[in-house]
Amino acid sequence: ELEVMTPAGRFTLQPAPGLYAAVVGGSGITPVLSIAATLLAREPSARFCLIRSDRTTASTMFLEEVADLKDRYPQRFQLVTVLSREEQQAGLPSGRLGRERLTELLPALLPVAQVTGWFLCGPYGLVQGAERALRGLGVDRTRVHQEIFHVAEGAGTEPVAAAPAHSTVTVRLDGRGGTWPVQEGETLLETVLRNRPDAPYACKGGVCGTCRAFLVAGEVRMDRNFALEPEETQAGYVLACQSHPATEAVELDFDR
Ligand code: FES
Repeated sequence: ELEVMTPAGRFTLQPAPGLYAAVVGGSGITPVLSIAATLLAREPSARFCLIRSDRTTASTMFLEEVADLKDRYPQRFQLVTVLSREEQQAGLPSGRLGRERLTELLPALLPVAQVTGWFLCGPYGLVQGAERALRGLGVDRTRVHQEIFHVAEGAGTEPVAAAPAHSTVTVRLDGRGGTWPVQEGETLLETVLRNRPDAPYACKGGVCGTCRAFLVAGEVRMDRNFALEPEETQAGYVLACQSHPATEAVELDFDR
């Protein structure tokens, strides 16, 4: 018998009419395949353009499932594949999909300004390159959703500030509270997990956003953040798995 969390995360799409597009790399296809399949099945007037980057055909995940979508919705599903380490007989030349290439490629593939929602998913470099390309093409940030896989250690890490010698974290989680001392060097999530094993987390790497909590009082320093949007951090949310206390007392609310 397993106790599991409900699905979490905000890399989702409520099916609605319109044109949607995704730029994915490697295993970044995983959530996007479901998003595209659900959209096309539920919303007869929606269209989806999938731009995927993989090393070779042999290493491409969900090759058949994506080909099935193409067969089922030939008018509404557009598939563009770029292989970085193999030439294709037909289609685009091989190479990496970076900002410059996407800046040229995207306007040639689809009417960029008409895309209702963009879904970027894959390794940090690809997602960051795609995001910059879209920004350069004038796409509003609110239309761009991203989920990052595999962040290299050290990427996005902020300089370490001096931490207070003794600090405590007070937590509200599922309606119950507690206050515990934070041990030297540990993240607030680690402190919480020692006392409340039911605290939410998944990646512990600052990319999934599952450990999001509202900072009620005190200050924290985050090692890195690839999950929260600027509006969320401005509103006071932090990633517990990346947070270290910057004041002697910190209070987090996981229920908000
Ligand atoms: S557990 Fe994934 S961002 Fe903290």
